[in-house]
Amino acid sequence: MTLDEQQAREKAQHLYDTYTSRGDVLNYFSTLYQQAQGDASAIPWADQQVNTHFKDWAERQQLQGNNRRALVVGCGLGDDAEYLASLGFQVTAFDIAPEAIEWSKRRFPETQVHYEAANLFALPQAWQQTFDFILEIYTIQTLPHELRSRAMECISLCLAPDGNLLVICRGTENEERDGKIPSPLSRQSLSVFQSCGLQEVAFDDFYDQEEPPRRRFRIHYHLSNTPSNS
Ligand SMILES: C[S@@+](CC[C@H](N)C(=O)[O-])C[C@H]1O[C@@H](n2cnc3c(N)ncnc32)[C@H](O)[C@@H]1O
Repeated sequence: MTLDEQQAREKAQHLYDTYTSRGDVLNYFSTLYQQAQGDASAIPWADQQVNTHFKDWAERQQLQGNNRRALVVGCGLGDDAEYLASLGFQVTAFDIAPEAIEWSKRRFPETQVHYEAANLFALPQAWQQTFDFILEIYTIQTLPHELRSRAMECISLCLAPDGNLLVICRGTENEERDGKIPSPLSRQSLSVFQSCGLQEVAFDDFYDQEEPPRRRFRIHYHLSNTPSNS
């Protein structure tokens, strides 16, 4: 039986509550993918297409990989990673859930993407300062608030000098700590990226076309080639 979005969200929230009450949120993701047993309708965020806010941005920027290295954070079922590969990036895509990684490989058997099960909070050292483009869509907003600053620091560490980071998330003025996921981010909390030395190139604040419309942030950061003096 396929689930509608509301049913999938309610089931996922219930599972999330169970895991957070045990202080074991990171295993929630793996269990959710496991329980879905290949049915994407059970994964609330898995629409099995490239994120439209990312694609619109990439088209406007005329984003081209030219064999540069890209990293996709919390890649889920792989659509955004595959799109980046189609633009000519050498893509590494990781997710904490091995089930999501295996699922992506099954969906894209001819893939050029290097998919890897990895925890954002314990990434290989070889990834530090390595990637020319990093894409983060909707991972931070599913993490408990107390893990978010560290998540942003770990992402920033992977960016190579002169690299670009694109973050897409739900947006809000004031963050709620009510245990609901996804839980939107404020501009203030995103400033951790700037504390890590990244410059904000553009901050888009908009409502999407969903019913009801949801506020989203899409932020483009750049890491300068030269250390800043400030
Ligand atoms: C809301 S989903 C978004 C997936 C995908 N980016 C998308 O937009 O469809 C968040 C993803 O991040 C992964 N994730 C959560 N915590 C993680 C961590 N610590 N390290 C790596 N991946 C993580 C989850 O397994 C999940 O696939």
